[in-house]
Amino acid sequence: MDKELKQLKKRALEEFEKIKNNKELEELRVKYVGRNGELTKVLKQLKDLAVEEKPKIGKLANEVKVALAEKLDDLSSQLTKNARGSIVQATDLTLPGASVKTGSLHPNTIIQYELEDVFKSLGFQVLEGPDIESEYYNFEALNIPADHPARDMQDTFWLTSGEVLKTHTSAMQVRAMEKSGAPLKAIFPGRCFRYEATDASHDTTFYQLEGLMIDQDISIANLIAVMKELMKGVFGKEVKVRQRPGYFPFVEPGFELDINCLICGGKGCSVCKQTGWLELLPCGLVHPNVLKAGGLDPAKYSGFAFGLGLTRLVMMKYGIDDIRLLQSGDLRFLKQF
Ligand code: DAH
Repeated sequence: MDKELKQLKKRALEEFEKIKNNKELEELRVKYVGRNGELTKVLKQLKDLAVEEKPKIGKLANEVKVALAEKLDDLSSQLTKNARGSIVQATDLTLPGASVKTGSLHPNTIIQYELEDVFKSLGFQVLEGPDIESEYYNFEALNIPADHPARDMQDTFWLTSGEVLKTHTSAMQVRAMEKSGAPLKAIFPGRCFRYEATDASHDTTFYQLEGLMIDQDISIANLIAVMKELMKGVFGKEVKVRQRPGYFPFVEPGFELDINCLICGGKGCSVCKQTGWLELLPCGLVHPNVLKAGGLDPAKYSGFAFGLGLTRLVMMKYGIDDIRLLQSGDLRFLKQF
């Protein structure tokens, strides 16, 4: 019986080590020390032992009983503690939340979306064109033939295929006329590329937002009305503007709309080249040759076009004094928006 008791103790303790929850604990308690448990059965046999064996085996039996009981108590309190730990974790509302890292929109995108909203509210559709553009849509169709000196106004990245990285969003004008005909009210936001030296206000890649409105009897008055609405939408207040004559082969007459430099308040800084004014919006009435290229009759239709410097507008709005920051990919810069 001595051996039997020792084996039982060993077996029970080994099994106890494996329990994972209260249910298993209860099962083992019943199995060993329950009313019909294995240890209980052994204890019941004590009375049949020879008198001289009784004290020794009785003592051992008692030790086993206490050892098993202690172990079961131990395990029970351990389980309760763990359970309490996990309950606390799941329900403590005062713990700080796990921080979720999200990205943010590039300032360029923020302003683009704002402008799109303004124009959509005026009934304009939003169209986008390819970055790799044919010579035809980028130049020819816009009244800039191969030998035209105006080609030198834009330093162009030419591809070996004869195509170009689009130098301006105007490249979408004739594409849009071909697609939608007239009347037409559309904007084309997009990335532009120029092969030029970089400084605080020039980069090889930047964004423009082109606008085009074509209908019967469109005049400069329509252009100015839309521009005023635009400025109000962007800056949330009246911004000082001035208009100068400007030359662009695809408009006649052409203008330059300048805005008062919001970075220096008109006093002069590196962004406005010390003039206090920023060229923001070249614009004009669509040249008859361009309407013709788009399949429209200049005798019937007229229109205005403008090429907003989106990147420049972003710099104004957020007070960014170096254009190169926008493409730098510097998270310290980007996280501010
Ligand atoms: N595409 C011209 C440029 O990038 C800007 C421009 C001028 C666009 C006059 C227009 C316009 O629509 O009417 O230099």
